[in-house]
Amino acid sequence: MAWWWWLLVQLLVWCCAGVVALLWWMWVTRPQVDIPGPPTWPIIGNVLDLLEHPLTLQKARDFHRQYGDLTRFYVGPKLVIMVAHPDDVQHILVTSKMVERDPLTTNVMRVIVGDGLLTLNGSRWKTHRRLINPTFHSELLGNFLEAFHEGGLFLSARLAADSRGGAAPADVHAAALFAALRSFCTTGTGVDPDLLIPDDLSEREVSAIVADGMTLLQKMMVRPWTRSKALLRLTPKGRAVFKYLALLRKRVEEVIAIRSAAKEDGPAKTRQRLLETLVKPGGQTAVPVSEVRDELVTMALTATDTTAICISYVLAVLALHPEWQDAARRELEDVFGEGGDYLRAASLAELASLRVLESIIKETLRLFPVVPVLPRMVTEDIWLSRGRLLVPKGAMLGVMPFLTHRLPQFFPDPLTFDPSRFLEGRGGEDHPCSYLPFGLGARNCVGSQYARLEMKVFLATVLRRLRFLPHSRREDLENAALSVTLHSIEPIQVYCVPLQESGL
Ligand code: HEM
Repeated sequence: MAWWWWLLVQLLVWCCAGVVALLWWMWVTRPQVDIPGPPTWPIIGNVLDLLEHPLTLQKARDFHRQYGDLTRFYVGPKLVIMVAHPDDVQHILVTSKMVERDPLTTNVMRVIVGDGLLTLNGSRWKTHRRLINPTFHSELLGNFLEAFHEGGLFLSARLAADSRGGAAPADVHAAALFAALRSFCTTGTGVDPDLLIPDDLSEREVSAIVADGMTLLQKMMVRPWTRSKALLRLTPKGRAVFKYLALLRKRVEEVIAIRSAAKEDGPAKTRQRLLETLVKPGGQTAVPVSEVRDELVTMALTATDTTAICISYVLAVLALHPEWQDAARRELEDVFGEGGDYLRAASLAELASLRVLESIIKETLRLFPVVPVLPRMVTEDIWLSRGRLLVPKGAMLGVMPFLTHRLPQFFPDPLTFDPSRFLEGRGGEDHPCSYLPFGLGARNCVGSQYARLEMKVFLATVLRRLRFLPHSRREDLENAALSVTLHSIEPIQVYCVPLQESGL
């Protein structure tokens, strides 16, 4: 054997031995806790338990059933704890004010959305949050009603057309995603949605890409070796996701350019839109321009996918529960009358009186919380389980609203869809943290009021125009992948039959 060949083999062997020794050292020095969880393998921990792709709600529920309200995992040496009980939820999100999102999730999300509210921590997160909070303030919401109504009309027309008058099932997420994107363009940027929305891809393609993007994120979180952009681009799904992101970024850059080209702001306003806050006329920006671009992409994705998922679930459960669909429509008739202007745009006062519809949305979010995991980095040792168990600094806590929302001690008969829980003011009121569809504490949803109002307008608009009949079954709704957002494995579909007065 030539000497250089021998040297190369030696080098390779020692490198491999070094890597294994390092991994072994990381494994033996991993943080330990006295919390039950599946048996581990040296070095890889529980990666084999989490390899099933995509990881579903059902899998997490099985772990919860087996190990209880706190379940321990290791992703390699990284300690991850799944949290279900509202006492612990309260301690983590409210009392201890744990606001840092864990790097296991932020590093992965950063590959897709860059540096925005979802991925930033520390002082940069605080700066972004302080800027963005007022742009979704309740005082501004009244100005958004027209855009939401336009989105609701768009959604009604798309569902009616896709369902061909009720002859075929329509994919709700695809239509609702574009309706929400249109509303976001107007409300967040003030730019005409027709100028901004990519027409290079169909609604169905975009909806499928967003769902694939979410499952790719999940894969990257539990399989560290898949976390490279270059590797992702080798797969057709990865390529499609990056193609859509490139389109979105290009449009966002166009929007920034339009705003920068403005000579001056109009009359002074107490509250400005998102784009107006981030970019001033002349092009001066509130944070570095790359962060403005990433923030607008983050907001465009979070503001649309979440709403579209929730609307899909609401319409599917209403199709499966005609008694509640009728109750919602009776309420709409009471509020809007049955006369000539029954189909008019809703006012804030009319929307506030839609209590049945509100309870339906709340109950849907209880059963199917759109953001299924709230990941937190443990920045200081924390005692959980009423002071019985110590979780060390460096671990990741995953608060799981979909487990908390189904605990029978807070929501009796938890699997039953029963909006009257919220109508009668019950709804987990025994504990302040048993219901958290929009999160809790300083890192809660920045767009929660916006989302609530937008969904009410969309639903009040479509329910006055269409009747929904079931296609997706309850099992299909439950069969959902666990990622940044909740995505059903099969697209959620309903039949949409135009009502007589709808004019569709
Ligand atoms: C049904 C609709 C929605 C639901 C259920 C929802 C839920 C949530 C939840 C639970 C969180 C907290 C995550 C955590 O604690 O780690 C969150 C964060 C966030 N949401 Fe929403 N959301 C919705 C709609 C929206 C909308 C419409 C927007 C934008 C207008 C938005 C923007 C965001 C952003 C940017 C964050 C990150 C906040 C931060 O880290 O400071 N969401 N959302």
